Amino acid sequence: MARTGPAGGPDVVATQYLRTCGTTRSSALTERQSSMTSNEAVQTPEKTISDTIPETMMAAVLRDPARGLQIETLRTPRPKAGEVLIKVAACGLCHSDLHVMGGAIAFPLPAVLGHEVSGTIVEVGPGNENIGLEVGQRVAGGFLMPCGQCEACASGRDELCGPFFELNRLKGVLYDGTTRLATTEGEPVAMYSMGGLAQYAVVPATAVAPVPESIDMVPAAILGCAAMTGYGAVRRGADLRFGESVAVVAVGGVGTNIVQIARAFGASQVIAIDVDDDKLAPMLDYGATAVVNSATHDARQEVLRLTGGRGVDVSFEALGIPATWTTALDVLADGGRMVPIGLGAGVQTAGVEINRTVRRSQSILGSYGARTRQDLPAVVELAASGVISYKEIVSRRLPLQEAGLGYEALHNREIRGRAVVDMSL
Ligand SMILES: NC(=O)c1ccc[n+]([C@@H]2O[C@H](COP(=O)([O-])OP(=O)(O)OC[C@H]3O[C@@H](n4cnc5c(N)ncnc54)[C@H](O)[C@@H]3O)[C@@H](O)[C@H]2O)c1
Ligand SMILES: [Zn+2]
Ligand SMILES: [Zn+2]
Repeated sequence: MARTGPAGGPDVVATQYLRTCGTTRSSALTERQSSMTSNEAVQTPEKTISDTIPETMMAAVLRDPARGLQIETLRTPRPKAGEVLIKVAACGLCHSDLHVMGGAIAFPLPAVLGHEVSGTIVEVGPGNENIGLEVGQRVAGGFLMPCGQCEACASGRDELCGPFFELNRLKGVLYDGTTRLATTEGEPVAMYSMGGLAQYAVVPATAVAPVPESIDMVPAAILGCAAMTGYGAVRRGADLRFGESVAVVAVGGVGTNIVQIARAFGASQVIAIDVDDDKLAPMLDYGATAVVNSATHDARQEVLRLTGGRGVDVSFEALGIPATWTTALDVLADGGRMVPIGLGAGVQTAGVEINRTVRRSQSILGSYGARTRQDLPAVVELAASGVISYKEIVSRRLPLQEAGLGYEALHNREIRGRAVVDMSL
């Protein structure tokens, strides 16, 4: 398939998202406090704790990749210095979790996965006096949770935060070296990012961005990884300029966002490439100017045809396998930039034609996440103002109990856009 169509996306309709809370940790509450509505906070001088935090919560726990996710009761986590506790509204199902669940990316177990969340702050930990966040604030949580203190963070390069990799990605803990998650017996449970596949999640304050009332909270979960990574690839990885031509290879959850953000940044052409016509069909609504099925067509020939024989200025790769690297490099113009964001399943290598890269002055610019503190608020703003779509990208909503089925569908390539776990279901 190779067809062209108009750009443009659906309107973002303002929807207010309301939740009720579960059982309360209320023994110390006064009568007045316990008669408050669920969104009100205890009137401590700092107003830092909601009156509705239960002792325990449900979470999807990974103990053994062979057994998959199991729903367990865990102690509700509490935030420490520089952290907030959110009542999770929704958590997106990202391919990166699949790498961990399949054992391709090593991670300590047992663990709670899930790293793109939306929710409402129910407790603000100490040391957060100047962050402007308070109980009741609705937020999006970014997967890349910068420490805010290392050299990379000091220079604004959140995506290079060393402590994030060393502590969270290797050990499943937060910045004091411990996890906030434990079973009711006290067994520690690792956190992949904030451990979003749970009713509550502790997130470093550096990784949350307030969302306005107009934002629909359940689909807003995708802002913290799929959309933020897409923004990082376009804004940081490619530094895309108005009028440049673009190809996006693999248009799943992240690739779809790259398509629409590239168009929002003024790309003259956005060519979506995938092996699945069902994934490609909606791309025209997100701003793609053409789609190419690389399983049935020669992607390079199609892209050359569509670009007057030049190739594209920027190609994004959003799957992380050698075949998609090859396609992304094959469609590149002289002087072009290839921006890979797909993560390989463990240690993988891809072939790069040495002489073509050198003689044609092409660049390969890896892009991980984004600069959370600067870019997540920008992504929220793009969604809130209707410049990018987010609600339409969520094609499936599942209850927490069915998170495992959702990942199975993702693995089987049955998910268009993104599936999310909706904690209200
Ligand atoms: N760099 C980062 O910060 C970052 C962040 C999030 C995700 N990721 C990685 O990005 C990748 C994509 O994640 P996702 O959640 O969007 O995945 P996804 O499963 O939603 O999408 C994958 C897409 O690839 C397509 N596809 C499969 N085989 C293909 C082929 N041979 N050629 C072209 N397309 C093909 C599928 O049809 C699907 O549309 C994963 O590797 C994930 O780990 C990286
Ligand atoms: Zn992700
Ligand atoms: Zn840091």
